[in-house]
Amino acid sequence: MTQATMVDNRVRADRPAHIPEALVRDIDMYALDGIDQGFHEAWKALQTPDMPELVWTPLTGGHWVATRGEVIKEVYSDPARFSSEVIFLPKEAGEKYGMVPTRMDPPEHTPYRKLLDTGLNPGQIRKMEEQVRQAAIDLIEPLVAQGQCDFAADYANVFPVKVFMAMAGLPMSDVPKLAVFAKDMTRPAGSSPEEMAATLDAANKGFDAYVDPIIRERRGKNGTDLISVMVNGSINGEPISHEKAVGLISLLLLGGLDTVVNFLSFSMIYLARHPEKVAEIREDELKLRRGVEELFRRFPVVSDARMVAVDQTYRGVDLKQGDMILLPTALHGLDAGEHADPWDLDWERKSVQHSTFGGGPHRCAGLHLARLEATVTLQEWIRRIPAFSLASGANPVYHSGIVAAVENVPLVWDAVAAG
Ligand code: HEM
Repeated sequence: MTQATMVDNRVRADRPAHIPEALVRDIDMYALDGIDQGFHEAWKALQTPDMPELVWTPLTGGHWVATRGEVIKEVYSDPARFSSEVIFLPKEAGEKYGMVPTRMDPPEHTPYRKLLDTGLNPGQIRKMEEQVRQAAIDLIEPLVAQGQCDFAADYANVFPVKVFMAMAGLPMSDVPKLAVFAKDMTRPAGSSPEEMAATLDAANKGFDAYVDPIIRERRGKNGTDLISVMVNGSINGEPISHEKAVGLISLLLLGGLDTVVNFLSFSMIYLARHPEKVAEIREDELKLRRGVEELFRRFPVVSDARMVAVDQTYRGVDLKQGDMILLPTALHGLDAGEHADPWDLDWERKSVQHSTFGGGPHRCAGLHLARLEATVTLQEWIRRIPAFSLASGANPVYHSGIVAAVENVPLVWDAVAAG
């Protein structure tokens, strides 16, 4: 680790010589200033007109932060200059992260990505539509007559997980322990980079120990679940190694368990506060289906990173090999330089640009599943609960991290009218 000092109970890395003082800002990705007002609001508050497009923070081990959509997009798309060798911050934690193939650069990454796509391509996901829809209906129907629910606890935390566990051929009873691992990977506890690294390492090992016997069991059999398809797949003509299969299946669990969960809750808080936006899609099914991408633009949840691959001057800033750059995807979707009135959810927005699913060779392999889950949720929810709002006094609790989270999303509706 670089030299560090403790100020305000927070460990601060000393500023390396190549970083000008004028570019230093205090940005704590795990405890954003103003997070009680909302996760997206807290990130967006940093995107002032005078904010440089790259700034450096001494917190979380010391790293750069890209503050403009254009930069976030460019860094994701250029693995030769910005490597995936380490993608989680603090860097000490990212070095412990062992999932596959997120830390590989092309060409090593390419055959692993091909394998992932055999299980998650649009054709495969389309085949699941009925099953996904039924999972949504089964969860929503019992809620209708209640006139209220905690959307996060009663729906968002369950639905994508149920879909994914069914796809992977895993029992729902395993979810509570996997959810703890996922939280410890994406929002690791600890007040120093070393402590956070230890939390992440334990969670990563937890995923690995969980998938290890499942992989051994399914290897060489002709199962059709997602795990079987992956572990019986090949890499450059050879069977995928056991070690790489462990990393790949662990990544699928992480991707399938934490992201859609939080994205859906953020989306629903907004819709509960904007009944006119719900009315628009209630009356126009096509608008709903076409508009789903706008939801992904408006509610990004991931903030991961790239490592500078070679010393370079980038956009006028000297970067050293090994420097880390945080890419808060919220600052792409919500960048006013790319979207007029970015806070507005415009179902008919013409150009919907975002990095919510990352970009370049590692662009989210699960995005077709995520889109299906979002579309089906809106369709089936609005069909049964056409008007809803946040309960009075509702106080959602927001968390920032590699994947943002929100808890406590109490919704209310007229049960008689809905039924
Ligand atoms: C709202 C939902 C989702 C969001 C916002 C999201 C976001 C992302 C992002 C930003 C990346 C790129 C990471 C990087 O390059 O550093 C990524 C990669 C990935 N995601 Fe997702 N994801 C979502 C849903 C899912 C789901 C449901 C799955 C699993 C079925 C999944 C599986 C993956 C995998 C396997 C990768 C790695 C791809 C590669 O390295 O080539 N994601 N996701």
